[in-house]
Amino acid sequence: MNGDAETTGGAGTTGDAGTYADTALPGSLHGRSFCRETDLDAREWTDLLDLADALKDARRSGTERRLLEGSNVALVFEKTSTRTRAAFSVAAADQGAATTLFDPTGSQVGHKESTEDTAAVLGRMFDAILYRGARQEDVETLATHAGVPVYNGLTDEWHPTQMLADFQTMREHSGRDASEISYAFLGDLRFNMARSHAIAAALLGADLRLAGPASLGPPEDLLAEARHLAEASGGSVTVIEDPHEAVAGVDFVHTDVWVSMGEPSEVWRSRVEELMPYRVDAALMEAAGEGARFMHCLPAYHDARTTVGAEIARATGLEGGLEVSDEVFRSARSVVFDQAENRLHTTKALLVATLAGG
Ligand code: CP
Ligand code: NVA
Repeated sequence: MNGDAETTGGAGTTGDAGTYADTALPGSLHGRSFCRETDLDAREWTDLLDLADALKDARRSGTERRLLEGSNVALVFEKTSTRTRAAFSVAAADQGAATTLFDPTGSQVGHKESTEDTAAVLGRMFDAILYRGARQEDVETLATHAGVPVYNGLTDEWHPTQMLADFQTMREHSGRDASEISYAFLGDLRFNMARSHAIAAALLGADLRLAGPASLGPPEDLLAEARHLAEASGGSVTVIEDPHEAVAGVDFVHTDVWVSMGEPSEVWRSRVEELMPYRVDAALMEAAGEGARFMHCLPAYHDARTTVGAEIARATGLEGGLEVSDEVFRSARSVVFDQAENRLHTTKALLVATLAGG
């Protein structure tokens, strides 16, 4: 691993706006893992988001400095990915680090070798490990035994690297700090995206309304943790069953796929019935108010042009999108591709802060 606080500061010191010269690397993050949102405190989140903004400017202005030359990052995927894999690969390459991909069929991970043994092996060869899989305990086992930073690239419980991008995007589009933002998340409130939003919003002091049917409501322990964090930050996390009431006056309306990776396809039919009132369409965006923007971690079922989208459209008779209508997805209020791009800049900030800072 190359780079330390001194050389890092020196490397970026050009004095120009739009570089990360003035953005101190959050030194406390050196060597740290990011398995769930609470692995970082609110100050560290803000530092990382500031660094991501500076790295974004630097990439655009051609002033980016490579702080991770000679580093190696393992990318372990037990579930499929486009954005997370792309963000880690490109962020590492931009910074001079190499990546090695382990996909479910091309490695022994999980089926032939324990997570603990995998951690010990990868930790001897790599400077950091990204892991995506079903079980949160697997990413935490990796972090305990690898001896290098481990990043959670999505489990059934949490999607913390997505939260970094979502907050960078909301700060950019509102021009406000996280603690001044109000937003709604609609959908299945038991799964990774809703859970991560509850904790990230509470930690950062945002006003979050979670909207979904009682049958897909958030677990009590999650709400208790979110409310505890919100007491300290001044934020709020409320569950509102009525979707129109939930979105009234918010800055952003978020949703996610209605059936997540790893869930059986048989749940589609009942899920569509339960979540249809929470579909983000033009009427819902109108209820949110004129300034509200639409966000989605992607991939989204907004039309019937994908294989799965076509199958669901045939089964349900819904042609113009599921969790979001095609009209809203393609509208000027949709900032989903800014959000996707920000996976790159926030991932890079995480790599730089944990591997080059200190
Ligand atoms: N949003 C997200 O994590 O996308 P991928 O599943 O494509 O990585
Ligand atoms: N809830 C979704 C998020 C995809 C980024 C899933 O787990 O499939």
